[in-house]
Amino acid sequence: MQVVSISSLKGGVGKTSVTLGLASAALAAGIPTLVVDLDPHADATTGLGVTAAGKPGIGEMLKNSRRAQLGDSVVPSGWVANVRRSGNYGPEHRPVLDVAMGSAFSGIYDRPEVGRRDLRRLATLLSRVSGYGLVLIDCPPSLNGLTRMAWTASNRVLLVAEPALFSVAGTERTMRALELFRREFAPNLAPAAIIANRVRSGSNEHTFRLAEMKQMFGGLLLSPTIAEQANWQQIQGAAHSVHHWPGESAKQAARTFDSLLTNVVETRSARSRVIRRAG
Ligand SMILES: Nc1ncnc2c1ncn2[C@@H]1O[C@H](COP(=O)(O)OP(=O)(O)OP(=O)(O)O)[C@@H](O)[C@H]1O
Ligand SMILES: [Mg+2]
Repeated sequence: MQVVSISSLKGGVGKTSVTLGLASAALAAGIPTLVVDLDPHADATTGLGVTAAGKPGIGEMLKNSRRAQLGDSVVPSGWVANVRRSGNYGPEHRPVLDVAMGSAFSGIYDRPEVGRRDLRRLATLLSRVSGYGLVLIDCPPSLNGLTRMAWTASNRVLLVAEPALFSVAGTERTMRALELFRREFAPNLAPAAIIANRVRSGSNEHTFRLAEMKQMFGGLLLSPTIAEQANWQQIQGAAHSVHHWPGESAKQAARTFDSLLTNVVETRSARSRVIRRAG
């Protein structure tokens, strides 16, 4: 099971959008996926079209991490119904996209100082979960307890950045914090990768900042970059996956996330889980 955190120190740069885009690509690729919505604002839960009530959110699960079964509290994304309706999947690609729902309660862990025991809470919960090839963790915009808890549970961290001065500076600070964290708490964590989001091709400032990012981060800057997309909020507001939204611009965005997914995740081994599940 590959576990990927999507984080940034700066708010509003597109963490949730990248999480949703990668989840959409994973669903289209037939990778059984769990999205953990670690942000107390629960934007990813909303964007994934989750309507289920009566199940505990991730905050309650973390509080009881030694005994709680995360697998019992996840709910299917509303996107799965669209894929089922389209009938566009084979028997070995049974669509699986579940959500560990965000909850304000998780905010109790988002403090600057968290002990080792608290840092391991999400890893402990995930160690008892099975049947997924990929886990995507949408983090809150801070480097406090929740983000560090996500890093502790992850194989890979993706940092989202806009090609703008403060965002690039924030990414560099986050890289330094992550490197210190990796040495002390998570030696098996792969080096972070950076995703540039909201790139405007005609903007001189963006072209300049992207070149700067390439120079600063080299091969850690992932390709392709994600373009600024006019109908993004409409798609997310409708709680739709970008792969099921009509029009050429959505198709282009879907292709971008397909490529990013293959650059971030071992898609073949992640997908093979589905065959085991179906069998
Ligand atoms: N590539 C894009 N093109 C157009 N709009 C975008 C793009 N990426 C993100 N947005 C919009 O920017 C806003 C912030 O994005 P998002 O919520 O994904 O950021 P975030 O980093 O998760 O924010 P927060 O720090 O509050 O959790 C949203 O309204 C989203 O629709
Ligand atoms: Mg967010």
